[in-house]
Amino acid sequence: MDFDVKDQGLAEKGRLRVEWAVKSMPVLRSIRERFAKEKPLAGLRMAACLHVTTETAALAQTLKAGGADLRVCASNPLSTQDDVAAFLALGENIPVFAIKGEDKDTYYKHIHKALEHLPQVTMDDGADLVGVLHSERRELLKNVIGGTEETTTGVIRLRSMAEKGVLQYPIVAVNDADTKHLFDNRYGTGQSTVDGIVRATNRLLAGSNFVVAGYGWCGRGVAMRASGMGAKVIITEVNPLRALEAVMDGYQVMTIEQAAPIGDFFCTLTGDIHVLRSEHFKVMKDGAIVCNSGHFNVEIDLESLAKMALTARQIRDFVEEFELPGGKKIYVLGEGRLINLAAAEGHPSSVMDMSFANQALCSEYMAKNYSSLKKTVYPVPEDIDREIARLKLASMGVTIDVLTAEQDRYLHSWEMGT
Ligand code: ADE
Repeated sequence: MDFDVKDQGLAEKGRLRVEWAVKSMPVLRSIRERFAKEKPLAGLRMAACLHVTTETAALAQTLKAGGADLRVCASNPLSTQDDVAAFLALGENIPVFAIKGEDKDTYYKHIHKALEHLPQVTMDDGADLVGVLHSERRELLKNVIGGTEETTTGVIRLRSMAEKGVLQYPIVAVNDADTKHLFDNRYGTGQSTVDGIVRATNRLLAGSNFVVAGYGWCGRGVAMRASGMGAKVIITEVNPLRALEAVMDGYQVMTIEQAAPIGDFFCTLTGDIHVLRSEHFKVMKDGAIVCNSGHFNVEIDLESLAKMALTARQIRDFVEEFELPGGKKIYVLGEGRLINLAAAEGHPSSVMDMSFANQALCSEYMAKNYSSLKKTVYPVPEDIDREIARLKLASMGVTIDVLTAEQDRYLHSWEMGT
C-alpha cells in the first residue's frame, strides 16, 4: 500500500491516542456502529484532505466502517500528528500522505497522491483539494459525484467558485451547520488557540493586552477564553455589526493601528490577507507575540517582517524571534500557521465529535442524493443538524422539554394577541 508518513514506529502511540479521543466522541461512535451494519458508503472512493489528528482518525474509522475506500492527505503542512498518520497507515490500512512540517512541494505532492485515488467524493478542509482538482487535475472531475467542506475559509472559496460557474459538482458546507460552527469554531478554536499560545510561549495571559483580529465565531471563542484567563481583550473588526456585538460583549474595540502599540499578544482570525503588516510591526512593543488561528498563513505579512528584521532565530519550539532595527524583538508563533494545530492538538475531541458527525452523515447524504443535486454549495440538511444536537445532548445525559399540544398550536397560529 502506498503511503507517506514520518515514522512508522509511532503507530502504537497513535493507536492509543486515537482510542483516547474516541472516548469523547459518542455521536460519531453511534454513527460508526450504524455504518458498520448498513454500509451506506460501500465501495465509495473518497479522498479526505483534513488536519490529520486523533479526531480525524476517528472519522476515518467511521467512513471505513461505512464501506468507504478512503485516502487521506493533510490540509495544512504543520497540523499533522505524525503518530496518528502512522497509525492510520499501519493500523487501519488507510493510505495516508501527511508529515508534520512538510514543505509546500510535499504538501501539494500529497494532495496529488490523494487525487490519484480517483475519488468519487471529496472531503476538504480549506478547499485546497478541490482547488487542485479544478485546476491541475480536471480530467478526474468526471469521477466525482459530490463533496463536503469543513471550514469557513473553504466554504468562502467554494461559494466564489459556484458564483463564477467554476464548481463542477455539489458540495455540502459542513461548516455552516449550527452543530459545527457554534461549537467547533467558538469553543474548539477558543480553547485550542489559547492552549497553542500557552504551550508555545508559557507566557502569562493574566493582565496582558490580548488583541483578537476578527470577531467571527472563532474570534469570539478566543476572546472569551483569553478573557477568562485574565487578559484584557481588544477586538479589531471591519464589520460594524460584529464590532457592535464585541462592544456589548464587554471588549474594547479599536482599529488595528490603535491596537498595535499596546498589544502584548496578537491573534488573527479574519480569513483575510495581511491583517498585520509592516506599519503595525514598526509600532509594536518589544516582546509582542504574534500568531494566527485563521485557516491560511496569509493573515500576518511575514515576508515584510522578515525584510524589516536584522536577524531571525528560532528561540523555542514554534517561536521565531525577529529583531528589528533599534533592538526591538517580535515573536511569531508557528510560522503564522494555525497556532491551535501547530503548537497544540487542535480542537478537543468532544467538539470534533459534532463536526465529524456532520461530515459522516453528509457523506452518506451525498452518496444517496447526488443525482438530484446541482453544481453548487448546499447547506447541511436541517434534519442532520438537529439529529446531531439531539444525539449529543443524549450522550451528555441532558433531557429537554417537549412542546405541549397547546403550545404547538399557539406557535402555528396568528389569531391570539394581547
Ligand atoms: N480542526 C481543528 N481542530 C481539529 C482537530 N482536532 N481535528 C481535525 N481538524 C481540526
